[in-house]
Amino acid sequence: MILVTGGAGYIGSHTCVELLSAGYEIAIMDNFSNSQPEVLEKIRQITGKDFKFYEADMTAPEATETIFRENTIDCVIHFAGYKAVGESVQQPLKYYYNNITGTVILCQIMQKYGCKKMVFSSSATVYGNPKSVPIREDFPLSTTNPYGSTKLMIEQILRDIAIADSEWSIALLRYFNPIGAHKSGLIGESPNGIPNNLVPYIAKVAAGQLEHLNVFGNDYPTQDGTGVRDYIHVVDLSLGHIKAVEKVLKTKGVDAYNLGTGKGYSVLEIVKAYEKACGKSIAYVIAPRRPGDIPACYADPAKSEKELGWTAKMGIEEMCEDSWRFTLNNLH
Ligand code: UFG
Repeated sequence: MILVTGGAGYIGSHTCVELLSAGYEIAIMDNFSNSQPEVLEKIRQITGKDFKFYEADMTAPEATETIFRENTIDCVIHFAGYKAVGESVQQPLKYYYNNITGTVILCQIMQKYGCKKMVFSSSATVYGNPKSVPIREDFPLSTTNPYGSTKLMIEQILRDIAIADSEWSIALLRYFNPIGAHKSGLIGESPNGIPNNLVPYIAKVAAGQLEHLNVFGNDYPTQDGTGVRDYIHVVDLSLGHIKAVEKVLKTKGVDAYNLGTGKGYSVLEIVKAYEKACGKSIAYVIAPRRPGDIPACYADPAKSEKELGWTAKMGIEEMCEDSWRFTLNNLH
């Protein structure tokens, strides 16, 4: 059985769908800190399959241990964690406590129960401001905010665990910018309040819930001056986790993998693609650069292709269409 921490969240829920569809038995653990209980029913609806669910906080050892006592967990996909960059700057202790303490407790319990296989939800944020693009996994690592630091520190903790005990097998998956939603329109990204990320924000403008997009800077050294990112369909990203599970189940050691498409799109290119998908024009104004943003970030996905046998398949049109379908389905 695969335990999915944070399985009710955006990437977690899509990954649970793909795991169930691939025939894996799963247990989900989530405390709904940034997700809704209804998502669980939607995962069942999409897949026609059932799973165990534990409402538990990963910083509470008792709750996590119960899951390992009641089930034979072969591998953990560890998504659970806080992820808002701005909030992490304001409340660093909240981020260090939750993300790092939670992971340490999880690993202690895994060790105790002899479960030594993990797929970890890391981020391209661990590359800081990269010296060049596309970014390879062996590029220098650094961070620009506490959220990013928790990802980098957890990567280091997991590496140390694997050095101390060669039975461990760990994949560190460095995500670029996941967007889009499941084709069913049933699950997707629905942040509380005003979104921080580009595509959820654009979706709200398209839906008439926000007036206009603020484009954070148009004087970067990029194709049109706006920031460039590697947007990846969340279902493609989820399929990368299935490949990573297959890999950790049959190998040992620790390795990092980029999950990106290898293509960079500017903010204005995304606005155009979204306009095409939703058939409306998206109002925007040019605003100052957002502190901490970098000009361009996109992956070299060659290592993932070679070692995981995975590549992203879906293009930007599909990502925007699927985001829009989910948005329309979930207006209320
Ligand atoms: N942007 C805007 N206006 C907005 C929001 C974003 O112009 O309202 C721009 C940003 O300046 C950036 C691009 O759109 O150029 C993408 O911004 P996002 O906030 O969507 O994503 P980021 O690349 O800043 O951050 C994302 C995740 C982080 C993760 C990082 C890793 O949100 O969790 O990728 O590279 F750390």
